[in-house]
Amino acid sequence: MSHHLHWGIMGTGNIARQFADGLMGARRSVLAAVASRSQDSAINFATQRSIPNAHAGYAALLADRSVEAVYLALPNALHHEWTLKALKAGKHVLCEKPLANDAAQAQEMFTAARKAKLVLAEAFMYRSHPLTKAWLAALRGGAIGKVKFIRTNFTFYVSRTEGNIRFSTALAGGALMDVGCYCINLARLVAQAEPLSIQATAVKHSSGVDELTAATLTFPEGLVATFVCGMRAQADNTAMICGDQGYLLIPVPWKPPVQKAEFTLAHSTPPRMEAGAAKGPPPRHTFQVDAPLPLYALEADEFAATVLEGAAPAVRPEDSLGNMRTLDAIRSQIGLVFGLPTQDY
Ligand SMILES: NC(=O)c1ccc[n+]([C@@H]2O[C@H](COP(=O)([O-])OP(=O)(O)OC[C@H]3O[C@@H](n4cnc5c(N)ncnc54)[C@H](OP(=O)(O)O)[C@@H]3O)[C@@H](O)[C@H]2O)c1
Repeated sequence: MSHHLHWGIMGTGNIARQFADGLMGARRSVLAAVASRSQDSAINFATQRSIPNAHAGYAALLADRSVEAVYLALPNALHHEWTLKALKAGKHVLCEKPLANDAAQAQEMFTAARKAKLVLAEAFMYRSHPLTKAWLAALRGGAIGKVKFIRTNFTFYVSRTEGNIRFSTALAGGALMDVGCYCINLARLVAQAEPLSIQATAVKHSSGVDELTAATLTFPEGLVATFVCGMRAQADNTAMICGDQGYLLIPVPWKPPVQKAEFTLAHSTPPRMEAGAAKGPPPRHTFQVDAPLPLYALEADEFAATVLEGAAPAVRPEDSLGNMRTLDAIRSQIGLVFGLPTQDY
């Protein structure tokens, strides 16, 4: 087998472009092909990046023998169908988050991958950045003692909702699916467990998707995680992980910068009545982490190492399945139901 993994990109939207541009800097990955519903779009995308093959229609990409792995950058509701088709065609699949509409679909996808002896992984790219590995190592090394609570948020403001995949129930949109899945993933990563109980509330957009969801997840040993995700609000989009001996602040956890990504290890200021011995601000240290490559190159190369060397995937199947189950539980509490996708590809 070659030293490089040959990728085919399915879709030419926002994240497909970011992934393709990032991949230019990869060490173990090369772009072999791209596919779009529109031939023009595929050709433009390929020409701008010197990608050898441009395909009209996703099925043509799967028939391309130069493609070993598919990067699936389609709307959420198409992940299940096209992952199964890609696996059937003998391709490994790195599928965008969330892996599927629900846990049952995700289970079917992993079963198909296992039977075909192919790699399927969910593209939570923040997991591939060395910042995430660094704060996780500090946490596991006992830097903040026993973890007590986690508070994250991930929101952004969308002005154009018309024709936006995130505002379509048929395409499995909504804030929870789009960005809430990150908050859930981080909480489960820290807890190394699945939530025992979940309480969620949401505000719906007229399209039927949740434009804001807030949830509290309670994990074993009394670890509590809260998060807010939204598509019509602005927030700091940070993560705070609090223990009995200090806390970690991660200012940009979801898409850390390539250079000078940061996290801070801090201790809280005690309330005045207990502050007898405390003079001056409590100790606080900020760590800086540089990534060796662009974020999506790291993600692609980690996936390549799984395919080419059998390395453990950055996000394992049980991890994705746990995430999907939590998403299912929250969706049932907030009454978020998906419609049937339109078949226009
Ligand atoms: N990891 C990350 O950082 C990150 C960031 C953003 C999004 N995502 C995930 O990536 C996926 C795509 O998101 P995106 O922001 O790239 O969306 P987008 O810009 O709307 O692109 C989606 C692409 O899917 C294809 N498509 C197929 N059927 C479609 C339909 N019925 N309606 C619209 N597009 C359709 C289109 O490509 P063609 O026209 O070329 O066929 C389109 O360009 C989602 O699952 C999302 O959760 C991940």
